[in-house]
Amino acid sequence: MKYGVIGFPIEHSRSPEIHNSFANQFDLEITFTKHLVRKHECSSWVKDFFNNEGIGLSVTLPLKEEAFKLADVISDRALQAGAANMLHLKEDKIFADCTDGVGLVNDLKVKEIELQAKNVLVIGAGGASRGIIPSILSENPQQLIVANRTAEKAYKLVAEIQGLSAFHMKSSILMPSSLTLDNIANTSFDLVINATSTSTSPESKLEINSEIFKDAAVALDLYYSQKDTLFMKMAKDQSVPEVFDGWGMLVQQAAESFSQWTGLEPDTSELIRSRGA
Ligand code: ATR
Repeated sequence: MKYGVIGFPIEHSRSPEIHNSFANQFDLEITFTKHLVRKHECSSWVKDFFNNEGIGLSVTLPLKEEAFKLADVISDRALQAGAANMLHLKEDKIFADCTDGVGLVNDLKVKEIELQAKNVLVIGAGGASRGIIPSILSENPQQLIVANRTAEKAYKLVAEIQGLSAFHMKSSILMPSSLTLDNIANTSFDLVINATSTSTSPESKLEINSEIFKDAAVALDLYYSQKDTLFMKMAKDQSVPEVFDGWGMLVQQAAESFSQWTGLEPDTSELIRSRGA
């Protein structure tokens, strides 16, 4: 059974070891390979893969929007995100889903971190934020604030998600206007999530006011890394009690994709604990 992950760059991807470890739990024989695919070749590459016995693909940056566009059938949550992180050939049609949000929510559940009635701050208004915001809202936080360096982008994202929310979300959810990175300092948050792309490049600076961490119980960077990211260091310097990277979310989103591809539900606890080491 043929699976894979596509992106650019792709060398760093840990998806093969995660999916092989899931398959081992069921003695399932799979091949899971990584492929460097550029945006302009994405559509033809994916079609070739599925025409040649491919069953499922994980999709990473920068191809999540391309993957979404080439699918024949799109899940509601991928529609909300406007992006897909997994593709699945079902009944000769390419189905697209976005399992990032459910991956984050399941990761927080395992960590016994409640979203319900909490004040949540998401920093960043790009594709990564789009992927997680609908799932965070479905857990009924007290308030979700999106802050972004470029304010207009945050306003646009919030307006689009509120537009969708009339159909897909519970109406009781509060989502006030977005804020820029400069004017969030006076608000207090229980959970701060970094969904900017800053952690992916070591030389970039994250210009946030460390005051945002003052009442936070948890800070989580969606990026996964062996070393603390700049965001994680800032949170630790401000004595946030629990600081995490995105490893747990990565494993959980993979588990959701794996179970859709195979119908089997893998146990994620050992992989999350060991970090695959
Ligand atoms: P992704 O798909 O990873 O979300 P993206 O769509 O390019 O990537 O979005 C990147 C996000 O990181 C944006 O919110 C971006 O802010 P701008 O909209 O102002 O560009 C944010 N970002 C990138 N570099 C940043 C930095 N140095 N400080 C703060 N935010 C940054």
